[in-house]
Amino acid sequence: MSVALREDWVASPGGPLHGDIHAPGDKSVSHRAIMLAAVADGTSRIEGFLEGEDTLATAAIFERLGVRIETPESRTRVVHGVGLDGLQAAQHQLDCGNAGTGMRLLAGLLAGQPFDSVLVGDASLTRRPMRRVLDPLVRMGASIASHDGFPPLRIAGGQALRGIAYSSEIASAQVKSAVLLAGLQAQGETEVREPHPTRDYTERMLRAFGWPIDFSPGVAKLSGGHRLRATQVSVPADFSAAAFFLVAATLVPGSDIVLRRVGMNPRRTGLLRVLRAMGAHIDIEGLGEEGGEAVADLHVRHAPLRGIDVPVDAVPDMIDEFPALFIAAACASGTTTVRGAAELRVKESDRIATMSAGLRALGVVVDETPDGATIHGGPLRGGSIASQGDHRVAMAFAIAGQVCEDVVRIGDVANVATSFPGFDRLARAAGFGLRDA
Ligand code: S3P
Repeated sequence: MSVALREDWVASPGGPLHGDIHAPGDKSVSHRAIMLAAVADGTSRIEGFLEGEDTLATAAIFERLGVRIETPESRTRVVHGVGLDGLQAAQHQLDCGNAGTGMRLLAGLLAGQPFDSVLVGDASLTRRPMRRVLDPLVRMGASIASHDGFPPLRIAGGQALRGIAYSSEIASAQVKSAVLLAGLQAQGETEVREPHPTRDYTERMLRAFGWPIDFSPGVAKLSGGHRLRATQVSVPADFSAAAFFLVAATLVPGSDIVLRRVGMNPRRTGLLRVLRAMGAHIDIEGLGEEGGEAVADLHVRHAPLRGIDVPVDAVPDMIDEFPALFIAAACASGTTTVRGAAELRVKESDRIATMSAGLRALGVVVDETPDGATIHGGPLRGGSIASQGDHRVAMAFAIAGQVCEDVVRIGDVANVATSFPGFDRLARAAGFGLRDA
């Protein structure tokens, strides 16, 4: 099990932000690229891979399952796929670290394998609900024991899976992906419907690896019994990592930055829509395609923000961006309301509670509700923040520090390395005032 190190940051205004920023590779795409390449026939090459603890954990798991993965240079992986029937039983439990995506997708992929597996995670992941994937997988014939719906997951091998038509109650790409990945080894057809379309990387990548799949927003359908063929994957910069700089440059007067080659999948860019509605000045430049995904440069200049009611239909498209949005809302004039976002309570921390508590520590008035919050914009004074080991909360308060009257001390930031290794270095280079405590 990985142990979160307690490290602290001190953030304080560093002045206008400038320059070109290359955010790290997309976490969702990197997880899926390793998984599909591992069970494809032949050798795949992944460029732009996220060297974060979450995706390194997924790669290490496949090495334990008998897949050879080379790292010719940083951010590149060469994966010698073994085919869907070529994985070998691991001698030990498989540690997903902090990664909900890793654990939930692996549950689907390993449910139809001939051998037993045990998936474990760190303290945060061990508190995250797994029934959402266990229920459909068990309906498909999987045998998975859990700790009352929480990790560890003990997957019994040798189960014959059958395809199902599954209507998910929650808009979750992880649930959809777990079911589709189990469907690769199921008899017959597997169909997933979701209440709101979510990121479609699994569907797009299955197609890129040669698996026949039908999908349109909100529904995906495939049949078992095909093979995956090795391919090249080019991973765009992670919109969710770029989001911290989008908000920071918007908030800090005089800022002017460009975020390079950011993934622009419409199921990820809800924050762009919301920030623009709040008055942000963000230009999309050089929109193009790389490896089947839309990418663009995002040119951000400072602009004053006004509070809005965040449209409920934008929530799934910005589900990882609420920590950054809460900071933007606190700095906006007027109030911002967030509703329909109860999923935030089961992320790496309860993000409604952690963000509300952190903002209150900085003097902001926040009214929490079960599925969101009302944030009253106003001046931010300094204070001490408990990030609860949540990477995105820690980075969000590093932004707050750039516009606070006094310093912000942020506790327990080690998990920033799960999704954004080197965030502090990149942030300082752009102009952030941010140092180790
Ligand atoms: C992810 C889906 C989202 C997101 C997570 C990554 C994925 O989770 O919050 O960071 O890669 O499929 P949910 O499916 O739980 O919404």
